[in-house]
Amino acid sequence: MANLALPPLSGRVAFVTGAGQGLGAAIARGLSEAGARVVLADIELASAEAVAAEIGGLALQLDVRDETAFSSCFDAAVARLGAVDIMVNNAARTPSTSLWDIASEEWDDVLAINLRGAFFGCRIAGRHMRERGEGRIVNLGSMAGQQASNATGVHYAASKAGMLALTRSFAQELAPHGVTVNALAPAAIRSPSLDAMAPARQHALQAGIPLGRFGLAEEVAAAVVYLASPAAAFMTGATLDLNGGRFMR
Ligand SMILES: NC(=O)c1ccc[n+]([C@@H]2O[C@H](COP(=O)([O-])OP(=O)(O)OC[C@H]3O[C@@H](n4cnc5c(N)ncnc54)[C@H](O)[C@@H]3O)[C@@H](O)[C@H]2O)c1
Repeated sequence: MANLALPPLSGRVAFVTGAGQGLGAAIARGLSEAGARVVLADIELASAEAVAAEIGGLALQLDVRDETAFSSCFDAAVARLGAVDIMVNNAARTPSTSLWDIASEEWDDVLAINLRGAFFGCRIAGRHMRERGEGRIVNLGSMAGQQASNATGVHYAASKAGMLALTRSFAQELAPHGVTVNALAPAAIRSPSLDAMAPARQHALQAGIPLGRFGLAEEVAAAVVYLASPAAAFMTGATLDLNGGRFMR
């Protein structure tokens, strides 16, 4: 029986990629509030350090495109904090280039960060968790991977659709070892780029959301905390939709 006096992730260690800003930073804060010690890994070390200073986390420089660097960074986190219980594959690049204009270098880079980086993250954390007989992996997908979208590029959409397939394969592989792997598919979340849009455009977008408002980064963080908590122990291979009802399936 869990001790209800303690926060749900007390004593746990979480590793979040792309934690220097946006949803990754909110997820790191949410996991920390839930009691976890958090490793914030980002290609931009200074931004990860700023969030880490706020929550007493550990900031590490990481380019998720590089498997060797990813392994060393993960090992450094394990050496400093003893283990990693929760892995959040969040780092991504989100260009909105028209499909007619995407250069092959841009295609490759988006897939390398968003999908291959998450593959490395699942595999590196998966090996560690498989050995320990427990662990939680949460992958950041997107509604763009479930439905046609012209707000983001087709390379981004393809990477996010791939993320859902990756999630199911790792979930199946790791289930016998006590490790769950789930994905989140957010959309219509408030962000600096959304806030920068003209009010008329924001209103038009909001009108298409059944719940009548944009989502908050804190709400995405709360879903990650849930997936990492004992309450979600029976859920694996799932995709949680956080989109205000814009896409129902
Ligand atoms: N914001 C949204 O509304 C939304 C909606 C759906 C899905 N998502 C997903 O949520 C995640 C976070 O989105 P966001 O809007 O906060 O993104 P963001 O662009 O604000 O932040 C991405 C972070 O990843 C880091 N990063 C980029 N390349 C990296 C690399 N090679 N190695 C390590 N770190 C790297 C960046 O430095 C940055 O800190 C992404 O996976 C995105 O696809 C976001």
